[in-house]
Amino acid sequence: MKEHLDVVGHWTEIKLQILQDYAVAYAQILQNQHFIKHVAYVDGFAGAGAHISKQSGKLIAGSPARALSIQPRFSHYHFVEMDAARAKRLQGMGDEKDVTVYQGDCNEVLLKEVFPQCRYEDYRRALCLLDPYELNPNWEVVETAGRMRSIEIFLNFMIMDANMNVLWKNPDSVAPDQAQRMTKFWGDDSWHAAAYTTEQDLFRTFEQKAPNESVVAAYRKRLKEVAGFKYVPEPLPMCNTRGAVVYYLFFASQNPTGNKIAEHIFKKYRGHAGR
Ligand SMILES: C[S@@+](CC[C@H](N)C(=O)[O-])C[C@H]1O[C@@H](n2cnc3c(N)ncnc32)[C@H](O)[C@@H]1O
Repeated sequence: MKEHLDVVGHWTEIKLQILQDYAVAYAQILQNQHFIKHVAYVDGFAGAGAHISKQSGKLIAGSPARALSIQPRFSHYHFVEMDAARAKRLQGMGDEKDVTVYQGDCNEVLLKEVFPQCRYEDYRRALCLLDPYELNPNWEVVETAGRMRSIEIFLNFMIMDANMNVLWKNPDSVAPDQAQRMTKFWGDDSWHAAAYTTEQDLFRTFEQKAPNESVVAAYRKRLKEVAGFKYVPEPLPMCNTRGAVVYYLFFASQNPTGNKIAEHIFKKYRGHAGR
């Protein structure tokens, strides 16, 4: 089944460590909050459960396997994976009773099946990882998590995908279906105003592409002001071996303690993640 596994670089190993470090602290803290009845781990883009390290050539645990290894255990594990072979591999990983594997699009599965099991008013909480390859998930998923108040998220903003396919110097030449992907991710077309400034020279008015940092800052503002997450630390830029930012790792939560822990973990890696 190795053919279903990704070969991953150093930056992915760092991301996995960050998520694991946070999930360990989260599980411990929630265990001590006795009024909480159920704590779920949700992986929206769960993958195959393992990867092959580019550095060592060895098999390394993916995010679902790491979540399953954490003590105290979560009340339930929800793994969503689009790819049938990967979903099948995940099926074999956990005790049937507390693991549900959904083969499908997390944009539908999370909203219809998983998030309704994580309601604040039912004294339930969830840690949700949204770790796609490209501009995904739809904003509706993120906004729903924020509004529910019971779900905290880690989310990759795939800025390299955005820059390669949508945020071109000349926005007029971008294919409509690519712009549409950005709109689905962002929630509306206000990304355009965040990604371009209007400049003027002696002869004309023209649009100038804004730097990554401005786009990401605008998305962070949406997480707070539109989705209603109280705490969204500055995201962590994750780079490839050439030093280019592939994605920004966001954390968003309603909880001051969770925020403190995430900021502490991010601080450890800021400045050298992925190199
Ligand atoms: C970056 S990998 C996930 C890695 C995993 N979180 C880990 O750290 O071990 C992204 C996964 O999302 C899956 N995927 C892509 N689109 C999806 C969607 N709309 N819903 C659910 N899974 C999706 C891909 O098949 C792939 O396995």
